[in-house]
Amino acid sequence: MKTQFLRPKDVDQAARIIRSGGLVGLPTETVYGLGTNGLNPMAVRSIFQAKGRPQDNPLILHIPDASWLELYCEDIPEAAWRLAKRFWPGPLTMVLKCRRRSQEELNQLEREPVCSKTHFGLKVIPDEVTAGLDTVGMRCPAHSICRAVIRTAGVPVAAPSGNLSGKPSPTTAQHMMDDMGGRIDAILDGGDCQVGLESTIVDLTCSPPRLLRPGGVPLEELRVVLEEIEMDPAVTRLMDEGEQPRAPGMKYRHYAPKAPVTVVRGEPMRSAQYILDHISDSYWDGVICFNEFAHWYQEHPVEKLGSSQDCWEQARRLFRALRAMDENGVKHIWAQCPDTSGMGLAVVNRLSKAAGFHIVDV
Ligand code: TXA
Ligand code: MG
Repeated sequence: MKTQFLRPKDVDQAARIIRSGGLVGLPTETVYGLGTNGLNPMAVRSIFQAKGRPQDNPLILHIPDASWLELYCEDIPEAAWRLAKRFWPGPLTMVLKCRRRSQEELNQLEREPVCSKTHFGLKVIPDEVTAGLDTVGMRCPAHSICRAVIRTAGVPVAAPSGNLSGKPSPTTAQHMMDDMGGRIDAILDGGDCQVGLESTIVDLTCSPPRLLRPGGVPLEELRVVLEEIEMDPAVTRLMDEGEQPRAPGMKYRHYAPKAPVTVVRGEPMRSAQYILDHISDSYWDGVICFNEFAHWYQEHPVEKLGSSQDCWEQARRLFRALRAMDENGVKHIWAQCPDTSGMGLAVVNRLSKAAGFHIVDV
């Protein structure tokens, strides 16, 4: 299959492909997503195929505004409406209870062939989206082109990040083409992603609500709206054998370049010094570091993560830096790491996962 690049003016074409069950790379403010009609089970299955994604890892549904929530979810707590009001459209995904199907709806589904479930307007989320869970992740992205596509398609768009499973998420249309070229119908080029790593996921089906994945909305900002919020252990450490994170995707080594990564955590000057002291003489040891220290490693491939003071810039550049390291063919990656305040928490989480939690504290 030849994968076509679409331009922002091709919103209608992208929407048509999605509606009819094709696969389209879509820009969002966080990362590029791989979207299709979230009500069409066959289409959703083809996402898993294109990405090589494990079947037990559910997808999130993208909607153009909060009024769509009630079509697909039930028992929506008041806190969810408050969060939507404050952060949507924007980089927040809420896990909510799926709307149950009435017996009448189920009977009607029984009579229909699987592939036409989407055509009679029942607005039922297939198990293919939720991986059989009774909850669903809902997100209203802030990217104007993405929202135009969803609105025009008129269906919720199921979309994981547009990388091959296990690779860093794509933050440019070209990165998505690198992973998905030949596997999907089209990629809509909406420019570079502004946030650079994925949405924050909050589970609102438990009390207190629980942070499942740090992302584009910092924890501190969630705390302004929610009285209480718990952090899922999978955010900060490797799960033990047999332990299940609440976001199934958090258990995989993820966001990972080909080369092993060592994350060095601590005050920037000290982590930079640690790397200098421990990096091998080989050219094939690469460094991801704060801008201030880039000139320390002139004998090595270096990717700048941004200023040590600017976690937002670090977030924007992290996945690009990991991909660039792969392109350079490095054999080992050393990475400096910010502290966990603000967007730092999400940067640390992605770096730690890229490193399989191989972290040195200095
Ligand atoms: O920013 C984003 O969220 C991007 C853009 C494209 O919207 N999407 C994204 O999707 O990151 P994905 O599939 O790469 O990550 C979604 C995560 C996975 O870890 C998955 O396990 C979790 O959300 N998830 C999905 N549905 C869930 C549910 N019902 N309960 C718990 N976790 C869920
Ligand atoms: Mg992903």
